[in-house]
Amino acid sequence: MIEVKDLAKALQGGGKLLDSVEQFLSSSYCGSSDLRYQRARYSAALARFSEAFPDAKKVMIARTPGRVNLIGEHTDYNGLPVLPIAICRDVVIIFSPRKDRRVNLVNTSIWFPPRSFDISGRIRPYAAGNWGNYAKASAQIMQEVSRKALIGMDACICGDIPFGSGLSSSSALVVAVATALAQVNNMALEKRDMAELLARGERYVGTEGGGMDQAISLLAEPKKALKIDFFPLNVSPVSVPEDYSFVVCNSLIAAEKSGAARDEYNRRVVECRLGVALLDHVLTDRARTARNLTMLAGLKNMSVERQMTAIDQLPDKPVSIKEAAKIIGIPLGKFRETLLNLRGGEVVKEPRSGFKVKQRVRHVLSEGKRVEQAVRALESGNITRFGELMNQSHESCARDYEISTPEVDALVDICLDSGAVGARLTGAGFGGSVIALVQDNAVPDFVSSVVEQYYHQYLPKERKDTPVSIVCLEDAIFPCKPCSGVGTLP
Ligand code: GLA
Repeated sequence: MIEVKDLAKALQGGGKLLDSVEQFLSSSYCGSSDLRYQRARYSAALARFSEAFPDAKKVMIARTPGRVNLIGEHTDYNGLPVLPIAICRDVVIIFSPRKDRRVNLVNTSIWFPPRSFDISGRIRPYAAGNWGNYAKASAQIMQEVSRKALIGMDACICGDIPFGSGLSSSSALVVAVATALAQVNNMALEKRDMAELLARGERYVGTEGGGMDQAISLLAEPKKALKIDFFPLNVSPVSVPEDYSFVVCNSLIAAEKSGAARDEYNRRVVECRLGVALLDHVLTDRARTARNLTMLAGLKNMSVERQMTAIDQLPDKPVSIKEAAKIIGIPLGKFRETLLNLRGGEVVKEPRSGFKVKQRVRHVLSEGKRVEQAVRALESGNITRFGELMNQSHESCARDYEISTPEVDALVDICLDSGAVGARLTGAGFGGSVIALVQDNAVPDFVSSVVEQYYHQYLPKERKDTPVSIVCLEDAIFPCKPCSGVGTLP
């Protein structure tokens, strides 16, 4: 642990901790973020910590980054790969152990009021949408895997990942709180195990997410994208072109994981489950090759042509669970339960118009193939091909998976028109951000063009309810290079 006064001095540029703090900051932000800004930010967080917890004399720090996914959307929970990078926007947590089981949290942002709760075997969630639920999710799962009763902590959170922008601010918070709790309780967990654990733990908030966000926040490497495979979790670093940036452009249409997007997200999970059940039936009956399919990933070694032949046999129209049970020839009751009940305890409502299975499966399987192709394109330095794959991915996300919005589609078009080699929505969708691949020396012109066309013209005209005028444009559109994963001090 480090003395609060020594840390304060080092952040101001002096004292005995200066070297280790400088080293922590430069390795964390890989030279792609202004360290003066980071020092000021950490100082503000430390000041807020000391104001809230004046008796704590020693602290620790952890930082956990947000992410952009370059390609591979909604593939993770189907067991197919993703290709994200960590960004230099992160959650910083300054914390100090307590003797009891209480977790006291303050936040440097006025949007997130203080929260306090006790760690127990069964922590009751706050109402949906409360930011404290992400901390409770971490505490709950960490307690589940620990043999002893965990002690709590006093902590200050300071995040600069724009909220609701599809850049995984919530998973970064989950990882930050879990990392801090692991530290104060001396829990030695491998990062990979922690990633799998927290993917499960975050379901506490009611979204049946895959494991991409937690894995990249923990395991990211500077200058590399990570190809992440699931079940079991496995990561392989992939170099990205050094003279290109990934420019994040926030559509400013909020995609809150705990809000309306949650139901849409969970419905996609159920549609994929239905796809698995129907494909298993189709393939077992006709080709007798893929019996006991448990995930769409079970088809990943099939050629594109064979995958398409299988998809062709799925019903064209949306299907109800009743219709699916009839096609497969199994009793309805148990089938409905296994399909609609999520692991976090939520039950997905069946839409009246049925589940759009065929097009969802088409997206997931083709997206899985695109990730493999994108990795090959990067490895062979074929940037144009990589850009094309990003564009195809967007098309498939928008048309087949229906996770885009008119604003996000317009923003993608504007990005391409402004000189991006490729552009697509990133993250869960239903709003959130677009990621555009742009050559470094073209970034300033690209940014001016998108600012003019999207933030000054399109958005104020099309969405009068979006407060573009009070948005800080530097938080809405910014270039990124791959950053490091979780970091701790000391
Ligand atoms: C969210 C989830 C991830 C992943 C993406 C979509 O970010 O948390 O697990 O499913 O959506 O690719």
